Amino acid sequence: MSVTAAEIERAAQVIRAGGLVGMPTETVYGLAASALDARAVLRIYTTKGRPRFDPLIVHVADAEQAWTLCTPSPRARRLAAACWPGPLTMVLPRTALVPDIVTSGLETVAVRVPDHPVALALIRAAGQPLAAPSANPFGMVSPTTAAHVAAQFLASQVLVLDGGACRVGIESSVLRVDPPLLLRPGGLSRARLAEILGEPVALSDRSSRAAAVGLPSPGMLASHYAPRTPLSLRSGTISAGARFAYLSWRGIDVPPQAQAVEILSRCGDLAEAATRLFAALRRLDDAGVCSIICELVPEEGLGEGINDRLRRAAGLG
Ligand code: TXA
Ligand code: MG
Repeated sequence: MSVTAAEIERAAQVIRAGGLVGMPTETVYGLAASALDARAVLRIYTTKGRPRFDPLIVHVADAEQAWTLCTPSPRARRLAAACWPGPLTMVLPRTALVPDIVTSGLETVAVRVPDHPVALALIRAAGQPLAAPSANPFGMVSPTTAAHVAAQFLASQVLVLDGGACRVGIESSVLRVDPPLLLRPGGLSRARLAEILGEPVALSDRSSRAAAVGLPSPGMLASHYAPRTPLSLRSGTISAGARFAYLSWRGIDVPPQAQAVEILSRCGDLAEAATRLFAALRRLDDAGVCSIICELVPEEGLGEGINDRLRRAAGLG
């Protein structure tokens, strides 16, 4: 679980040679390659089975490195000072340094400084920014442990650094900065962003996101974040007889006929629920049932990000 300096150096060599590294961050594990090497970035897309129109996040060690890849605005500087390192990805106008394949040809680039010592050490040792989507085959549940990553890719394809279980547990919040529009709710709440900016932050829907981004954006695909087992959201009483697994918010009113149960947070803590979400979905997925039924959590704070993942997993993205 703790990563040595020698392992970081070996991973940095893999990056410099155009290879892929499973990189722990505070949100989820990333599948990292040099963001400045178009062939290495292409390998991310092919290894993940990710459509080429779905742009990647570039991970940097600090704001100064970020501003070599994009042009900051006053809002961006303020957010960087308040939120980085941390689970905020900013979408800003890109510089000529960024290869087209990273942004799917968009004139903007998504950047963030991850709040994880192993990620920061790897970026510094590699000496370049790292493009990294979540380290899961496209459309599947995101990984929050090194074992999740290792289970989904061949060791010959990806060198995995084991930085322990991810603290935040859901992906970063993706913000189009000017004017503020939250493209993906995530590990930093919309309320906190609004507080830092001193202005409201709108949450995008399908049409506002498509208009803002100029492309169909990935999160827009309904199957995103889905387990293999069909998943639905709980509505009212559950018909007796069906074999299902159950995801409960606080462990209250759990249907007694559920074959497997995961409770996100007995004490009602949304941060704990986020940390547990993806591993809980994986366990329910492995329970050998015909369906998974999920409760939504309160639609506030991190709950927006959690419910977004559950709705997408249910195909209601
Ligand atoms: O927490 C995270 O964000 C994790 C860790 C590894 O950092 N990464 C992650 O990457 O979730 P990925 O590829 O699964 O999601 C990237 C999101 C997608 O929704 C993508 O559409 C959006 O960022 N994105 C990237 N570049 C963009 C751009 N130029 N404009 C709008 N959206 C962009
Ligand atoms: Mg992803």
